[in-house]
Amino acid sequence: MKIVLSGIRPTGNLHLGNYYGAMVNFLKMQEDKENNCFFFIADLHSMTTHSDPKLLQENVRNILATYLACGLDPEKATLYIQSDMDDISKLYYLLATLSPVADLNKVVTFKEKSQQNPDNVNAALFTYPVLMASDILAFNADFVPVGKDQKQHLEFTCHTASRFNQRYGVNYFKEPTPFIAKDQALVKIPGLDGSGKMGKSEGNCIYLIDEPKAIEKKVKGALTDNGPEGVNTPKPEYIENLFTILKVVSTPDVVAHYDNLWKTGEQKWYGNLKKQLAEDIITVTTPIRERINDIKNDDAYLRKVTQLGAEKARAVTSKTLADVREIMGLNYFK
Ligand code: TYM
Repeated sequence: MKIVLSGIRPTGNLHLGNYYGAMVNFLKMQEDKENNCFFFIADLHSMTTHSDPKLLQENVRNILATYLACGLDPEKATLYIQSDMDDISKLYYLLATLSPVADLNKVVTFKEKSQQNPDNVNAALFTYPVLMASDILAFNADFVPVGKDQKQHLEFTCHTASRFNQRYGVNYFKEPTPFIAKDQALVKIPGLDGSGKMGKSEGNCIYLIDEPKAIEKKVKGALTDNGPEGVNTPKPEYIENLFTILKVVSTPDVVAHYDNLWKTGEQKWYGNLKKQLAEDIITVTTPIRERINDIKNDDAYLRKVTQLGAEKARAVTSKTLADVREIMGLNYFK
């Protein structure tokens, strides 16, 4: 069996970037009988940037309901909340003793987040990749399905695994592989504001829970211009971005149709493109939105899912922690 593990921070509702960058792969992987899947809610990680307790509770509820609404199945995959796992926090400290400050200083997300919020550059934000390494190595995961933006964090995990093995002269931790689906390279879903990725902190998201009217409005407002400047010109980034989203939500013939229009250099069809794009996004999100609303207030069910998940997950991590303690010499007076 291959161990598959991934998490999402509860910093707001899930958007199309999370869905195509992560969730679609989670769903595929849970169906493969060769995989033992662990999917969690990274609440401790979210606290590095979001500290409102009430909002945290609402977000964890929403993300868990979204996991279930998208089709993650507690019978097939282990679903848990990161902070329910004491072993992971303990491993985090132990791995921090192996984590060079020089490496953490190079992490791009730390630099970005520090710039976005200069009044809250905290130690947990700085050691974010160490906790992520603990999440992954506590299960000795083989595959980690994530979007492209997490690649550097995964490289840090690989370095941590090999540093541990080298320092203690063991071959204990595996170096995990970021999962790249066969039909889709690690995608980066762009925002609708012209540049960069779709992200909760960027304020440019289409959420799975958005009502159709809101989606239509957001897509209509996406940055465009008058049309191509000539035949077969390269697309500017903001137009390329619309095509990137079209590629994941629409059928290949729809994409080919608009691509051909672009190539002919014809103008005045962006209105139709946006209408089609909104319609196809709504087709993907509507069943998910309806299920989220059915599940999210069912406390008894949500509690049952997370309790069962934490129990199953702890069975794996308690063994890892015991082994790591032994290897690091934290085993006195036997
Ligand atoms: P988070 O919450 O930022 O994002 C969750 C997942 O969504 C992907 N993603 C995207 N993919 C494509 N295009 C986008 N615009 C886009 N925005 C987000 C992310 O790549 C990610 O896969 N550090 C992680 C959470 C985490 C984790 C882990 C993941 C904590 N521990 C251990 C894997 C393994 C994060 O910030 O996710």
